[in-house]
Order: sequence, then C-alpha cells, then structure tokens
Amino acid sequence: MSEEEVLCQISTFFAAGHETTSSALTWCLYAVAKDKRVQDRLRKALRELEEERTSENQPPTTDDLTDRIMRCTYLDWVVRESLRLHAPVTNTMRVCMREEDSIPVRDETGYVDARGKRRWEIPVRKWDIISIPIQAINKSQVFWGEDATAFR
Ligand code: HEM
Repeated sequence: MSEEEVLCQISTFFAAGHETTSSALTWCLYAVAKDKRVQDRLRKALRELEEERTSENQPPTTDDLTDRIMRCTYLDWVVRESLRLHAPVTNTMRVCMREEDSIPVRDETGYVDARGKRRWEIPVRKWDIISIPIQAINKSQVFWGEDATAFR
C-alpha cells in the first residue's frame, strides 16, 4: 500500500476498531468479574496454558502463548457469550438490491398488515433499508430460552 492508503486506513481503525474492541473487552471483564465460577474456571484454563512446557522443556514464548490462547476453548466460550450479551455494535442494516423481494416471518401465525391482510412475509422493494437489531436478537428468548439475558 502507498503511504496515503495506509493513512486512509487509520480512521477505520479508530472508528470501527477502537470503540468496538475496548467496549467488548470492558463488558467481558465486567461479566467475568461478576461471575466467580466462570472467573475461576477461566483463570485455571489460562494458567494451564502458561504452565505447559514446550517440547524442548523451555518456558513458552509469546508466539507459543498466542497459539495456545487461540486454541483455548473455554476462553472462546467466554468471549462469544460476552459478545452475545453485550454486543458492542447493537444494530446493522442491509439495503434491498432486487426490484421486489420478501422477508419470511418466523411466527407461523404471521401478522396483520396496515390494510388488515394477514401475511407470512414482509414485502420489500429496491433500496428499502432493512434494520437488523443485533442486540434484540442476541437477547431474544425465542432463540436463547428463558435465561436469554443471563451470562452463561
Ligand atoms: C470486538 C470488536 C469488533 C466488533 C464487535 C465489530 C463489529 C462489527 C460489525 C457488527 C460490523 C458490521 C457487519 C455487517 O453489518 O456486515 C463490522 C464491520 C467492520 N469492522 Fe468491525 N468489529 C470489531 C472490531 C473491528 C476492528 C478491530 C476493525 C479494524 C481495525 C474493524 C473493522 C471493520 C470494518 C472495516 C468493517 C466493514 C466491513 C465491510 O463491510 O466490508 N472491526 N464490525
């Protein structure tokens, strides 16, 4: 990349990369701080990674640790659950690019539109903006069960 292209990426790193990552980390630490059981289990899993010796019986290097952290299943669960419950980006959107299309409705009883007609899909047209409520979906009891708002 040219120097100008590299400079142009920096605003993306700040806008898309900084707040998202810092807020994700903050909420994850908060969730872990509030849940002693998860905290103990995660600490144990991470300590074990650190204690593992290399094949040459040397202490692990930073690269070894990074490699092990990437394979730490429990850490992965903790991070994913925290991102579900405390999604740093709460909404996103998509734009319809077909002349006509439709979004199916999950509920089998459908819904009644403004003209009183029962429908099982939401009709959309080209350039319609579809809002995707990430936070609401992530906490929906329909998808996650009754304890949808708990950190599990
Ligand atoms: C925990 C951290 C992060 C979260 C939760 C997050 C979340 C998101 C979400 C929800 C989208 C929109 C996806 C979509 O609607 O298609 C997105 C897109 C994007 N993010 Fe992140 N992000 C994170 C970290 C970062 C970092 C560190 C960078 C760059 C340094 C970054 C750069 C981008 C870019 C460039 C896009 C647009 C991608 C595209 O449309 O092609 N994000 N991110």
